[in-house]
Amino acid sequence: MGPPAPSGATQIQLTLTVNGADHGLRLDNRITLLDALRDDLGLVGTKKGCDQGACGACTVLLDGRRVLACLTLAAQCEGRQVTTIEGLAGDGRHPLQEAFLRHDGFQCGYCTPGQIMSAVALLREGRAGSDEEIREFMSGNICRCGAYPNILAAIREVARAGVA
Ligand code: FES
Ligand code: FES
Repeated sequence: MGPPAPSGATQIQLTLTVNGADHGLRLDNRITLLDALRDDLGLVGTKKGCDQGACGACTVLLDGRRVLACLTLAAQCEGRQVTTIEGLAGDGRHPLQEAFLRHDGFQCGYCTPGQIMSAVALLREGRAGSDEEIREFMSGNICRCGAYPNILAAIREVARAGVA
């Protein structure tokens, strides 16, 4: 359960569709998608870094487009498809997850779900034509461990293989 609602908060009933499954929830109308995913649905693969829209750790897909879950209200997501790292590849691994493993695209791993969700969208957006383009369109995802060269190598490999 999320934190208790402050007095005067409005509770709403909504259905969130996450990774293909519907979840009926009763929430404070100001709860972010990030807190709903982590605290109410137990989907803790989506990380809370800055909680201010500055780090990209909370990146998920909303109707296939990347959004920052810490800046998105859960109430905005009813009737839309939310995809988190847990639902990216069902029981298997997405080609980007395999590539991150092959290229050591992480150290502590805290930024990794956000990096991968952002990279999924980047490939769909056709923004992986060059290293410069990948760097530019991944620039909202910060890695405090500095794994950028390996992250770039992983995304480049999948982009060139055309498997995602
Ligand atoms: Fe959302 Fe940092 S936690 S951008
Ligand atoms: Fe540690 Fe990116 S792997 S923050």
